[in-house]
Amino acid sequence: MPDSVRIAVLASGGGSNFQALVDRFRRADVRYREVVGVIASRERAGVLERARRAGVAAAIAPPAATRAEMATFLRRALDGWRSDIVVLAGYMKLVPETVVRAYWGRILNIHPALLPSFGGRGMYGARVHQAVIEAGARVTGATVHFVDEAYDRGPILCQWPVPVLAGDTPESVAARVLKVEHRILPAAVEALASGAVRLDADRRVHWVREWFETDTFTNREG
Ligand code: GRF
Repeated sequence: MPDSVRIAVLASGGGSNFQALVDRFRRADVRYREVVGVIASRERAGVLERARRAGVAAAIAPPAATRAEMATFLRRALDGWRSDIVVLAGYMKLVPETVVRAYWGRILNIHPALLPSFGGRGMYGARVHQAVIEAGARVTGATVHFVDEAYDRGPILCQWPVPVLAGDTPESVAARVLKVEHRILPAAVEALASGAVRLDADRRVHWVREWFETDTFTNREG
C-alpha cells in the first residue's frame, strides 16, 4: 500500500458506514487516508446526500447496465479516482468478476451478521436480522471480509459479536449491530491500509502484526 491511501466506497442505502469511514479518516490524528469517492447503485440512495455534505465525489451506477457495462463503469470510476482500497458499505449488487480481480485483496465488505451464517444472495438489511431472530440465535454480530466473486463468501478479516436480547425486533438488532459496524469497518480498512493485514495468494488472511486496539475477533494467533 502507498503511504497515502485512497479509499472508494460502493453503497446503496443511507450511507452510515460511508459516514463512519469519512469521519474516521478526517480525524486530525489520522493522516494519509482519504475517502476519494462513492458509487451509489441507485440515484435516491441517502449516501449521496452524505457525500455532497462531506464534499466527496460521487457517481451513480447506470441502473439498467449489463454486467459488462457495470464492470466498465466501475473500473472507470474506481481507476479514475486512483483507488487503493474499495469498500462495499451496504452495496446490494454483485461486483463483476473483472473488477474483483483487478482489485483482488483490496475490496472489503461489511455484513451485519457473523458469516458464514446468515449471509449469501438475498440476505441483506432487515432480512438478515429477521432470520437471526427466527433461528433463535443468542449472538449475532458484524463481519468484515475480503470480497470474491460471490455474495458474502470471501475470506473473513474480522468479526465482532453482538447479543440478541429477548423481545428484539429486526430493527433493534440492526441498530445494535450497526453501532459495531461503524467501529470495526474503519478499523479493518486502516489495518489493510497500514499493511497490518493482507490477503495471501492462497486466499488466507495474513496478519502481519498485532492490530486493533481492542481484542476484535480476527484469525491472529494468541
Ligand atoms: C449495513 O447494516 C451493512 O452491514 C449492510 O447494509 C447496511 C448499510 O447501512 N450491508 P448504511 O447504508 O451504511 O447505513
